[in-house]
Amino acid sequence: MNTMTTEKPSLKNENRPVIPGVTLSTFPDSPRLLTLNFSAEVTERFLQQTEQWPIQALEYKSLLRFRIAKILDDLCANQLQSFLLQTLLARSQGALLIQAEGINRVEQSDDMVKLATAIAHLIGRSNFDSMSGQYYARFVVKNVDNSDSYLRQPHRVLELHNDGTYVDEVTDYVMMMKIDEQNMQGGDSMLLHLDDWEQLDTYFRHPLARQTMRWSAPPSKNTLKDVFHPVFDVDDHGRPVMRYIDQFVQPKDFTEGNWLSDLSDALESSQNKLFIPVPVGSILLINNLFWLHGRDRFTPHPELRRELMRQRGYFNVPQSRT
Ligand SMILES: [Fe+2]
Repeated sequence: MNTMTTEKPSLKNENRPVIPGVTLSTFPDSPRLLTLNFSAEVTERFLQQTEQWPIQALEYKSLLRFRIAKILDDLCANQLQSFLLQTLLARSQGALLIQAEGINRVEQSDDMVKLATAIAHLIGRSNFDSMSGQYYARFVVKNVDNSDSYLRQPHRVLELHNDGTYVDEVTDYVMMMKIDEQNMQGGDSMLLHLDDWEQLDTYFRHPLARQTMRWSAPPSKNTLKDVFHPVFDVDDHGRPVMRYIDQFVQPKDFTEGNWLSDLSDALESSQNKLFIPVPVGSILLINNLFWLHGRDRFTPHPELRRELMRQRGYFNVPQSRT
């Protein structure tokens, strides 16, 4: 275990806030991950009160994303926003699995995007996603794939990584929503909290940890310029934060390339990875600075289909970095 962090998950049942219309519990495999369920009543009222705005309205008018966020917070007695932010910023937590009673079928995909948008715009604002040209991206995974990254390739593990590594924008949070899933076996979301990574100290203390490196994405990401930053940084308490993805880092030489290869292996071999089944209609929302995410492999099936939505952005409250 690393020695730098002493903060342990401390959320106990008796300390858990009571938010009207919301049920909270701890994910069985980790006290760091909370599950949050909106009641059927909150879900229905949210959809009724936002019915006048189709997804296109949210795409065209960004201010409406904040309006529907307020509607959701109002339905939860204005206690949802602060709870979400507190949870996501807490180093000992920083991750939520969110579900809404009654939202669980692909036919409700617009409702799903709406709910996810409201949540994202309570905690901050979603960045422009250059892959989709919108503030969110929906993408389909099928049995055969011709794309240029491992994002959509089902039969491979999508290795642990952070998002936003090849853009200049702050990427405090990552939100992943399951819109559809057919003929899937496997493919759980994988998560690793930095403080649970057995080899964090070794890599964080290495001289290459703070070496500026080049990051560039393949054509499908529609990003034209490279960005430069190190793999590790620290927050204002001196705790490690990470901006890393194996596919897009461009090591300049033999030494960097092999150190990065070792680092990738060390992440993948962690015994503390969490495997999270994400049901249709559910949202995984994580702090992108101290959680890594990935996806386990699927079993091939000719009729396999999975549709996902993602949003990534920055928090209302600046997340401290030095
Ligand atoms: Fe990702």
